[in-house]
Amino acid sequence: MTSDETPDEAAADEARTRAFDTSVAHQARMYDYLLGGKDNYAADRAAVEQQLAISPDVAFSARANRAFLGRAVRYLAAEAGIRQFLDIGTGIPTAGNTHQVAQAIAPETRVVYVDYDPVVLAHARALLTSHPAGVTDYIDADLRDTGTILSHAAELLDFTEPVAVTLIAILHVIPDSDDPYGIVATLMDAVPAGSYLAISHMASELLSRETRERLEHHSGATMQQPLTARTRAQMARFFDGLDLVAPGLVPVEEWRPDPGTGDMGESVLWCAVGRKR
Ligand SMILES: C[S@@+](CC[C@H](N)C(=O)[O-])C[C@H]1O[C@@H](n2cnc3c(N)ncnc32)[C@H](O)[C@@H]1O
Repeated sequence: MTSDETPDEAAADEARTRAFDTSVAHQARMYDYLLGGKDNYAADRAAVEQQLAISPDVAFSARANRAFLGRAVRYLAAEAGIRQFLDIGTGIPTAGNTHQVAQAIAPETRVVYVDYDPVVLAHARALLTSHPAGVTDYIDADLRDTGTILSHAAELLDFTEPVAVTLIAILHVIPDSDDPYGIVATLMDAVPAGSYLAISHMASELLSRETRERLEHHSGATMQQPLTARTRAQMARFFDGLDLVAPGLVPVEEWRPDPGTGDMGESVLWCAVGRKR
């Protein structure tokens, strides 16, 4: 901490320079590599190449997932009238970050980002380039620490007004032993009726049994976050007490697709968007 730093600034500095292990593949950097980014290391690239050897659909899945994020945020801002987003599992900033998509429709939109990866933190400045009419913030926190997330987010978001909670491609790295259903329920209990939940998630039924087992086993051996695929019914359980927006629970590429994007394939990810009653 320097003499002119507040304790908060010192903590942020400390986190920014925190040592992290680049010899073990990390979900954020693997996804960055899959999307053609430059913020990844040899271990991340090797793990992705091994995943692609097991399931070539992983490459399309990453692109289709990012495109789903854009369409879901656009729907939430333009059609559902949402002006507040809590985006947990933000990822390394790339094209079409949540605040850019939402603020292109409603500049006054407030977005709180949450991730626990030090590389995402190092790039957080790119997430803080809010339109002057809106606000963005970044919380360096673990999804499992819902208390920290909700108390920090409440500094920027008004929890008496609807909030869209987005958990895009993150819950499949939360094993059952960490109570993913309890985590989602806690987050959705904190927001009022009329709020939304958007999720994408690795799908058991969209993989052959052998491929799913190999992907899960490979992630357990090489990644900081082992993968857990979930069935359609398990995915639907995250939306208990919510009404699914049409077309319901579908593969990411089938959720309100934009005609003529030219990127065709079959993903291995479920998605859905639901509205709290
Ligand atoms: C595959 S990326 C998805 C990024 C973005 N949501 C998207 O779909 O384009 C998943 C992100 O979730 C983050 N993540 C994974 N587990 C997390 C946890 N327990 N707490 C906070 N972030 C987590 C990773 O660091 C990574 O940046």
